[in-house]
Amino acid sequence: MASVSNEEINDIRASADIVAIIGSYIPLTQKGKNFVGVCPFHDDHSPSMSVSPEKQIYKCFACGASGNVFTFVAEYENVSFIEAVRIVASKCGKELSITTYNNNVSQALKEENEIMDLTQKFFLNNLRTKFGKDALEYLKNRGLNEDIIKEFGIGLSLDSNDSLYQLLLKKNYDIKKLLDLGLVNSVNGKTYDMFTRRITFPLWDKDGNIVGFSARVYRDEKDVSKYMNSRESKLFKKGETLYNYHKAKDIAKREKKIIVVEGFMDAIRISSIGIKNVVALQGTAMTTEQVQLLKKLRVKVILCLDNDNAGLIATINNGDELIKNEIETEVIRLSGEKDPDEYILANGGEAFKNNVDKPLSYFEFKMNYLKQNKDLNNVEDLSIYVNDVLKSLTEIDDPILKELTLDKMSKEYNLSIIVLKNKLEQLEPVKIKKEIKSTVIEKQRKDVFMIGSEKILYFMMNGEEYIREYQKKLGFFEDSLYREIANEIVYFYETNKEITVADFITYVNDKNDIRDKVMEIVNDSANDEVTIEAMDEYIDALSRVLVKNEIKRLKKLMKSELDEAKKLEIALQIKELKKEDV
Ligand code: CTP
Ligand code: MN
Repeated sequence: MASVSNEEINDIRASADIVAIIGSYIPLTQKGKNFVGVCPFHDDHSPSMSVSPEKQIYKCFACGASGNVFTFVAEYENVSFIEAVRIVASKCGKELSITTYNNNVSQALKEENEIMDLTQKFFLNNLRTKFGKDALEYLKNRGLNEDIIKEFGIGLSLDSNDSLYQLLLKKNYDIKKLLDLGLVNSVNGKTYDMFTRRITFPLWDKDGNIVGFSARVYRDEKDVSKYMNSRESKLFKKGETLYNYHKAKDIAKREKKIIVVEGFMDAIRISSIGIKNVVALQGTAMTTEQVQLLKKLRVKVILCLDNDNAGLIATINNGDELIKNEIETEVIRLSGEKDPDEYILANGGEAFKNNVDKPLSYFEFKMNYLKQNKDLNNVEDLSIYVNDVLKSLTEIDDPILKELTLDKMSKEYNLSIIVLKNKLEQLEPVKIKKEIKSTVIEKQRKDVFMIGSEKILYFMMNGEEYIREYQKKLGFFEDSLYREIANEIVYFYETNKEITVADFITYVNDKNDIRDKVMEIVNDSANDEVTIEAMDEYIDALSRVLVKNEIKRLKKLMKSELDEAKKLEIALQIKELKKEDV
């Protein structure tokens, strides 16, 4: 994959003001020469994020997030780095030239997207022809108006003699490719359309590209499945898609919550009553990839699955998984109708909105669920119930909720609070707390050698004079990771004839083995004053450590040396070094 030139990206970065761009996502206020805001990358309650207009970088004191304008946009918008470059460019009234941008998408992928777009146009058009009368009638009867039909790109596949296959063949696409994409099927050497006489719903990836279709029967047809989906292909992985995600994600971030339903018809219906932060699993089970997509939004997830037993079991399974992934989860259980679509048709949008306004916390929901089919007057049932609740409590991080729950159970069932507490402690897994592990402790663990090396590397990212100083006074890191970073800094400078921290961040973005360390270094040092004197102090400190280490090594060597002449030689070397070590 060719990429947009670093030069072009650096130009865009130089013309973008990081304070203005980040300020367009989160409110920033000036504090000294920097700006501060509430960090969007963790559950921040006080402004922990600092943005430096001088260095054009940001850092969060609490969670360690840091980077330049592109990494911020990529993280915040949950898009690729190159997409973030395009967004920043357009915010500054610039455009990544189409050619450079498309270069980034491989030629083959471009053709596949083209085929998908052609297919979508074909389906859209069919619905508007005389063949589409019944299908339109069906959609209208289901209460889907023109606006919704358009918004969700609903279309129609035709009988096999008016086929998509014929159309695509005329465009000279490789049959194998059409088979791979799951648009056509081949049996006994005969090729025909995958979808026939079905209403089509495009499926998008997280960035809004059409990657597949789901198609529903709309006439009385026996022995066919209600829905048919595109085959799994390079483009389409059902388990990696969340229906409507690309449209819902921004609104979800604004509203700080997202509703998750089973069927895409449910998502379409909910969207039609003005609730746009909704996605569909396309089934009951939530995949790991779907959990990760939701986690990236950093918002509350409201599960609103079907009102049947499968939906109930799935609520528990998916809820447990979400909680394990530290995602705040709430639950809505509708009553009466089978699914949200039917519920809204029967009771109206307002009734549904009322449910959305008062969901149960997942824990509360699960407590009720665990009570089901148990007689809590029976000691055995009660004991199972209490143990189940305690087990669920171990998944929860909130100490107040734990305390209150234990208290409540103790009173309700007349159990000793001490016994409950002890039992909970036994069940509690030995967890290494991620939050504690982060910055503070790590900093304490770092020794002079690491701190010194990392500071020097940070200075080097700030301009030629610092690189020269390093070359003159140090020239080498023994540690291979530090050495590699130093080499990259020097290489970057020599290629570009200048260097800034912000541009170096762009450069390391796709270098997996050093990126995280570079970001950590930037985060640790971003507020340091950058002067040659300060750098020299670190170089001196580091040199002293190096000398000490060398003395240690020579002393060991001397002990194991048998040859008296060589011993003397080493002793002299040590003496020389001790002169330096003052
Ligand atoms: N599904 C599927 N394949 C099937 C059946 C269902 O992929 N053979 C997925 C679809 O994405 C569907 C979801 O599972 O949206 C929920 O299925 P279901 O509850 O059966 O459908 P509804 O959403 O109720 O669809 P409709 O209202 O159109 O009957
Ligand atoms: Mn339904």
